Amino acid sequence: MSLKEKIESVKNDFLTDVDNFHTQSKDIEQIRLKYLGRNGVIADLFKNLDTASKEDRPKYGQLLNQLKNDITGKIDSYSSGQDNIDGNDIIDIALPGKNYPIGSIHILEQTLNEIKRIFNDIGFGVAYGPEIDDDYHNFGALNFPEHHPARDMQDTFFIDKDTVLRTHTSNVQIHLMEENDPPLRFIVPGRVYRNEAISYKSYCLFHQVEGLYVDENVSFGQLKGCLEYFVKKMFGENCKMRWRPSYFPFTEPSAEVDIWDDKRNQWMEILGCGMVDPEVFNNVDYDSNIWHGYAFGMGVERIAMLKYDIDDIRLFYNGDIRFLSQFR
Ligand code: PHE
Repeated sequence: MSLKEKIESVKNDFLTDVDNFHTQSKDIEQIRLKYLGRNGVIADLFKNLDTASKEDRPKYGQLLNQLKNDITGKIDSYSSGQDNIDGNDIIDIALPGKNYPIGSIHILEQTLNEIKRIFNDIGFGVAYGPEIDDDYHNFGALNFPEHHPARDMQDTFFIDKDTVLRTHTSNVQIHLMEENDPPLRFIVPGRVYRNEAISYKSYCLFHQVEGLYVDENVSFGQLKGCLEYFVKKMFGENCKMRWRPSYFPFTEPSAEVDIWDDKRNQWMEILGCGMVDPEVFNNVDYDSNIWHGYAFGMGVERIAMLKYDIDDIRLFYNGDIRFLSQFR
């Protein structure tokens, strides 16, 4: 076989090998070694250059180099995933494109943003406060008596005797009033922690948005108006809501708001609220003869579950992409 024939036959061998690679998925590195390795087929051919006549040598040298470059190019393009190695360099436009996975804003964050936007429109600023706080800000200043059951180990995660993971965002009511003179109007988004039995609607960690409005003439009617406005913006004009009288040590009177859950056919509680108790004003040195206020605290997960038909609170926390990617 002349050198020229040998070069032709190596070229054909290579194409056959590569075809088999297509169907049998043999390791492309094996093909690389066979042809381009130090003792590979191409190196061998170069050694054979001696057998050609002096005039033919440059021509064959060129042919060989060409072949080597072709083979290198094809193997490289194959191992970098550009599958156009069928010998014709045709790009198969029917192949699926590459998908670059895009992240999304977590559905809880989206819900929080929506809540902030609604309250911003009606004059509430956004404030934040500590998740680890002393007993005084989480309970004492909010008028929880010494032996109130909420302080019990069963509900509260204690760090030490007087330090807790806050059980609600109401601790920030106290911080805000200690640090600012009235009037004030804020919402406070944040995480809260409770040592509760875990179920589809309760988790040891969840989010609340606290609201606090203090001014000279603040009425329960304004509180109702504000929260009804919020609920309609969040859930639509036709959403069914109800007010229930309730009790909190730091508001008087107090109420809770439920939203009708069409899917489960039951009421779902989304928030507690009430008029700031004068005792709380005394604790922060606000004159309760002049200043009045309302406060509310809503559960963000509950709101997201109702709005987006999510049936288990634990879905917010397990990081499952199949869940998260539904809310792009
Ligand atoms: N902090 C209360 C809770 O977590 C909710 C609340 C906030 C009630 C503000 C009244 C006023 O249940």
